[in-house]
Amino acid sequence: MNSPGRTLSGRATLAGVIGWPVGHSLSPALHGYWLDRYAIDGAYVPLPVAPENLGTALRALPALGFAGVNVTVPHKQAVAAAVDTLDDAARRIGAVNTVIVADDGKLVGRNTDGIGFINALHAGATGWSASAGPTVLLGAGGAARAICAALLDAGAPEVRIVNRTKQKADQIAADLGGPIQTLAWNDRDRSLENAGLLVNATTLGMTGADPLPISLDLLPASAVVTDIVYAPLETPLLAAARARGNVAVDGLGMLLHQACPAFAAWFGVEPEVTDALRNHVLNQLRAD
Ligand code: ATR
Repeated sequence: MNSPGRTLSGRATLAGVIGWPVGHSLSPALHGYWLDRYAIDGAYVPLPVAPENLGTALRALPALGFAGVNVTVPHKQAVAAAVDTLDDAARRIGAVNTVIVADDGKLVGRNTDGIGFINALHAGATGWSASAGPTVLLGAGGAARAICAALLDAGAPEVRIVNRTKQKADQIAADLGGPIQTLAWNDRDRSLENAGLLVNATTLGMTGADPLPISLDLLPASAVVTDIVYAPLETPLLAAARARGNVAVDGLGMLLHQACPAFAAWFGVEPEVTDALRNHVLNQLRAD
């Protein structure tokens, strides 16, 4: 959050997050921390935009001089259809999490969720490599789609998508191509055999939701386990993985790392993900 002592000049750079609702977004705390840390003349604000106002709000960004915005639920796919150009990741995923206003006022849609996921794993699991072995990816929503594309780009030899609604996994495989297998939800325990990475990209394990029902018995001890859920930080899945000796990486890293390319594009500084940043965002999460 911006410190009370910091004042903006008339030339301040503006960015924000568009969502509906947007009150629980951690992005203002995250970007605000970096703005303070790097003493940048800029602001990052929550922008509650109802679906029926999305087009008007997007077109207002260049008119208002915004450098860009992040995009969150429920707008990621609608923004992909509304911007002027998409980067490769956003096109393949069909969703935008970052909009950059170009010098000519055009809106460029990017998706940094996948690269955020990969960079969080590199930071949290020393020596991890996507090419080390098959990945088991539980879930087939928007987050799973972004993660799958990024894993394939990073050289994953095989991605096994396991989802309750198998047709959604089949659709990702058809859209992305490459070495993707899809499995029925009932096959999740046996899908873990010889895996190098297990990713929970479902909402199971989140505060208020059921825990993820899975047995890790067949998962190699060398496999890394990660969760996109970060509330709670230590999900039952991560606790079970750690208890049997697997390296476990929590979901907060993906949130922090997906923000880096956007901050750099808008504010001109490559920000760092540090323990102090994590603690700052965690305090915000606990305060909500
Ligand atoms: P996001 O965009 O964040 O990925 P989402 O699109 O709502 O969110 O996806 C949620 C994922 O959690 C889906 O894979 C969903 O499975 P379905 O595709 O079958 O809906 C999965 N999920 C949610 N609740 C679940 C449950 N009780 N059991 C199994 N999977 C569940």
